[in-house]
Amino acid sequence: MTRPVLELVDVVRQYPGSPPVRALDRVNLTVLTGEWVAVIGPSGSGKSTLLNLMGALDQPTSGTVRIDGYDVAGLDDERLSALRGHSLGFVFQSFHLLASLTAWENVATALVYRGVPAAERRDRAAAAMTRVGLGHRIGHRPAQLSGGECQRVAIARALVGEPALVLADEPTGNLDTRTGEEIMGLFRELNGDGTTLVLITHDPAIAASAPRRVRIRDGRIVASELDGVTG
Ligand SMILES: Nc1ncnc2c1ncn2[C@@H]1O[C@H](COP(=O)(O)OP(=O)(O)OP(=O)(O)O)[C@@H](O)[C@H]1O
Ligand SMILES: [Mg+2]
Repeated sequence: MTRPVLELVDVVRQYPGSPPVRALDRVNLTVLTGEWVAVIGPSGSGKSTLLNLMGALDQPTSGTVRIDGYDVAGLDDERLSALRGHSLGFVFQSFHLLASLTAWENVATALVYRGVPAAERRDRAAAAMTRVGLGHRIGHRPAQLSGGECQRVAIARALVGEPALVLADEPTGNLDTRTGEEIMGLFRELNGDGTTLVLITHDPAIAASAPRRVRIRDGRIVASELDGVTG
């Protein structure tokens, strides 16, 4: 059964200032389990603002954000970080790996917040590394890995807790074209296995990989396309 993993209802995010900036203007978006949605828009269109709301890192000025069934407005900081830890996985442009830890430790650390015992953390991290094609690199530190390998580690870290939703912000932005295509191939595989994904990008070629694309401009969703559906 599919269910909504992410629901944005009439979401407005206004930044204070004179004049204030309305970075998101009545955005409505629902993402169902198993979907892969690309959000595409030019610089300044509101992508990062949207990602921060989808990731429970920020609150809307008005409207409703529901993540994995939880309305973020009702949650204090502690519950918001618990929601992030349980329901979300993040993949960033610049990987955000800890340099002092091995690849395997970077992945396993994501399970500490979930209260998973050490032995199980080790096994699950190793399985996640294998899943992203890096079973042979678990003892390497980020400095000993290529950019594409670092991003695979970051993806393994995002997946290891089996989150309801993975949020990826320009995940190929620091990679050459070919490595970027490999990472998109990995996302395709993971989505085929049931992982729900939202990918934020300014690059139409990257967005084209996703079966559903949502265009944002000046803080508004201006178009929505789904493969196999016209109109
Ligand atoms: N903290 C802030 N205070 C005031 N205005 C902000 C703030 N953050 C973003 N903005 C404004 O909100 C709008 C949307 O910004 P946002 O960072 O979401 O765009 P973006 O689509 O991520 O752009 P890029 O592709 O360049 O990263 C922009 O006009 C920006 O100037
Ligand atoms: Mg941005």
